[in-house]
Amino acid sequence: TTIDMAAEDYALGGHPDFMRKEIAEQGEAVRRALRGRLDDRFATAHLGGLNMDARELRGISKVVFLGCGSAYYAGQLGAQVVEELARIPATAEPASEFRYRNPVVDPDALYVAISQSGETLDTLAAVQELQRKGGRVIGAVNVVGSAIARQCGAGVFLHAGPEISVASTKALTNMSVSFTMLALLLGRVRDLSAADGQRVVEGLRALPDAIDKVLTDEPAIAEIAQRYAEARSMFFIGRVRAWPVAREGAQKLKEVSYIHAEAYQASELKHGPLALIDPEMPSVVIVPDDELLAKNINTIEQIKARGGPVIAVTNADLPANVADDVIRIPRVATELDAMLLTIPLQLLAYHTALALGRDIDKPRNLAKSVTVE
Ligand code: AGP
Repeated sequence: TTIDMAAEDYALGGHPDFMRKEIAEQGEAVRRALRGRLDDRFATAHLGGLNMDARELRGISKVVFLGCGSAYYAGQLGAQVVEELARIPATAEPASEFRYRNPVVDPDALYVAISQSGETLDTLAAVQELQRKGGRVIGAVNVVGSAIARQCGAGVFLHAGPEISVASTKALTNMSVSFTMLALLLGRVRDLSAADGQRVVEGLRALPDAIDKVLTDEPAIAEIAQRYAEARSMFFIGRVRAWPVAREGAQKLKEVSYIHAEAYQASELKHGPLALIDPEMPSVVIVPDDELLAKNINTIEQIKARGGPVIAVTNADLPANVADDVIRIPRVATELDAMLLTIPLQLLAYHTALALGRDIDKPRNLAKSVTVE
């Protein structure tokens, strides 16, 4: 009806669809997630919803992130940043697998159930399984009052605001931001120095503006997306910090454009998938400006030597002409750069889907929250 259409136009606020709107809202969403939670005096973060004191935080033996789909990839990023900042062993696992493999539950571990909607059945069931076995589980949830938020009773709300598009963007970014704050807090009750803590605080504070800066690159990314929109398949290559970024990039492309995409660790390419590289197989290579820079450049050269087109997404200075296309983004802080490298991949997927005329907000066969098995 006309009234519904008017309501939707109003909700879209001038954007063509919700995915585009939610991508654009990310700077603001991150500002909201950070509000009142950063502490300059002690170079740490406050996450009151955890309901844990310093002694309990120090007693955590490991951190296990559980979620489905992109929430699981955000958990992988979280595990990386917890290990880096807090030096606590941390892993991520799909909640759907966890609940069925009769997991060993460690009473000293901290389990984090991740969900935008708070209604994903597999994630809820994993929480219940954990609680039944005496595990300590907190939620990282966007929707207040949702089933997972209530079941956990404690946790970190994501404050991303309502997310309508089936493809998750701003909720994902706020998951990564929340896990970085958690890692900072866990680090600061252990051995993370005040100076390193403050570097992370400042990096987090700089993140919203950096996101807005990446978004100004949209026309160039759209142009690249249009050129590759006819590809039948694409690789997303990244390692260590960039590995969850690559997985999320591949996921987003599949979800909204229906182009087959596969994420691979750069280090593993030569053990098999390099055989697939040819001029018809573009690779998106994620290159953080970190200690693996030289190795990642070498990976690009190996792909190029076999005729594969390369789109590099980087915050480093790459040698001229090493890749066919370079999407260059700002630096924030080494431990935080992964989440920023994800933003251009959202735009790449979005503009590929747009070029192919897909139903961007409601991809075929998918639901916003999966409340069945
Ligand atoms: C993300 O783009 C996907 N739509 C999907 O993988 C999603 O992240 C997953 O279904 C989990 O949803 P949740 O965060 O609401 O639990």
